[in-house]
Amino acid sequence: MYDMIIKGGTVVTAADTVVQDIAISNGKIVALGADLGEATQLIEASGKIITPGGIDSHCHIEQKSSSGLMTADDFYSASRSAAFGGTTTIIPFAAQHKGQSLYDVFDDYHRRATEKSVIDYAYHLIIADPTEAVMGEQLEAMIERGITSFKIYMTYESLKLDDYQILEVLFRARELQSLVMIHAENNDVIRWLTDKLLALGHSQPKYHAISHARIAESEATHRAISLAELLDTPLLIVHVSSAEATAEIRRAQERGLKIYGETCPQYLFLTAEDLDRDGMDGAMFCCSPPPRDQAAQDVIWRGLCNGTFEVFSSDHSPYRFDSSGKLAAGDNPSFDKIANGVPGLEIRLPMLYSAGVGTGRMSLNQFVAVTATNAAKMYGIYPQKGTIAVGSDADIVIWDSQRKVTLSTEMLHDEAGYTPYSGTQVTGWPELVLSRGRTVIANNELQVERGSGAYVHCGLSAYAIPSGKAVSELTPASNFGAKILGANNE
Ligand code: URP
Ligand code: ZN
Ligand code: ZN
Repeated sequence: MYDMIIKGGTVVTAADTVVQDIAISNGKIVALGADLGEATQLIEASGKIITPGGIDSHCHIEQKSSSGLMTADDFYSASRSAAFGGTTTIIPFAAQHKGQSLYDVFDDYHRRATEKSVIDYAYHLIIADPTEAVMGEQLEAMIERGITSFKIYMTYESLKLDDYQILEVLFRARELQSLVMIHAENNDVIRWLTDKLLALGHSQPKYHAISHARIAESEATHRAISLAELLDTPLLIVHVSSAEATAEIRRAQERGLKIYGETCPQYLFLTAEDLDRDGMDGAMFCCSPPPRDQAAQDVIWRGLCNGTFEVFSSDHSPYRFDSSGKLAAGDNPSFDKIANGVPGLEIRLPMLYSAGVGTGRMSLNQFVAVTATNAAKMYGIYPQKGTIAVGSDADIVIWDSQRKVTLSTEMLHDEAGYTPYSGTQVTGWPELVLSRGRTVIANNELQVERGSGAYVHCGLSAYAIPSGKAVSELTPASNFGAKILGANNE
């Protein structure tokens, strides 16, 4: 006798679409097929689409920004909001600030997530202070604890690393088979443009998009790729917004480099014009890199459908539109003083389902790949997460593909207090959400207690294995290269 059978649904994975039953016991998928037998609970799903629960592998939760602002969501409200939108695993950042030991960073985030999250969670690490101690034994200790991916920044005064430091992180990540994620924007270009714009009296939110010029993004993307190429170290360029940065990534991939890309809803559904709304309203749309234009949206869509982008994440960065968040520097702050980021945990899957699958732009299998499976593989939690297979966790979404929803602040479950997508109509919404076989969302209500999510230990990822085909002077064939990059490269 199984705990649960989901009967007759169309089960979609990154590879297949099959009408079959799913049997679940002890939180795991234990059988797939027809006539599976008896179960304590039977769920009739004939005619319904069933996908793996989403994995949001880029979100900022209960995180202090570089300027000291706390996000509006804690692990409870963020995980609740994610679950309503069909996401069953979150991978937010455990963020180091200068001077902090990684042990303290891990303990701090882990305590808060354990107490509050209603769905499963893992972490990436933000490295802001790559001291010898951090880069040595502390990073190894984090890998033992299950953090195998590190985000670094090329911008933000208190987070940015210079090229030398980036090389040090890439080199160490290569040794540890860990994946480096990089925020690629040229800090000096942004700073210079900001100074000039402010000197001319241009302080409104729309100038945020001008100061974060496309060239600031594409130059940094090119440079980050070059540094990764020098050391033959895999690299993920996160939250890509522009056609030019997309082209840099595509070119690197075509040359056989292990360069991966990530994009987010804001780059498919918003433009820089949104930052030019009345008064300070544009502040709600300030994120970095900023949304661009319709032509860039088209390129980002293409990149998501042709595999240039491996993962589609929310970059959920919730700051309320008040003095606790976006307007912390006053009622009328200049654009450079507005907290960066937009909320998006809950709308990520439904918006892509509607505008991607619903319009025929992408297949259901592609949808599953970019919202769940690829992230699971990239961060070393596959096949526990990210697919519907015997032995996998029963993280499952049953969709109401016909449901029409008009997005509004009131119907979402985060604490940002606004949504950039207010008024957008989507077709299709998660109807039933299971996490490890537990019913998390049913009848449009949360069914589980705070703290009932579980920690997911990330393993080393195949995505982080060097290609062995360095094309710089450090080629495996050169003695010098073999010495630096290790004999395993020969
Ligand atoms: O504007 C953004 N993206 N804020 C979140 C922090 C980051 O860099 O991802
Ligand atoms: Zn970033
Ligand atoms: Zn981010």
